Amino acid sequence: PKITFAAADGETRTIEANIGDSVMETAVRNGISGVVAECGGSLSCATCHVIVDEDDFASLPPMEEMEDEMLWGTAVDRTGTSRLSCQIRVTEDMGLRVTLPETQV
Ligand code: FES
Repeated sequence: PKITFAAADGETRTIEANIGDSVMETAVRNGISGVVAECGGSLSCATCHVIVDEDDFASLPPMEEMEDEMLWGTAVDRTGTSRLSCQIRVTEDMGLRVTLPETQV
């Protein structure tokens, strides 16, 4: 599965992700600095905010209520396709493009 991360400054990187990892883990392991992930994926920091491309957003499993609530606390205001990347699992047939917010803190 390929995940493309587009930084706020326009720099883009496409990474071959491991099935079962979260998108946040994929980013951190590959040195994508736009994902901070202070809490390590326990849904308590909102510093793993990503904006999912509209075309990909609908193909993701819907978010849990807790993620939705946490998204009101992001450093850059959420958009209609915002997600917390620690809550998105990489699946076999995934092709995902996300944009990173300008700041996470
Ligand atoms: Fe903290 Fe996602 S890593 S909420």
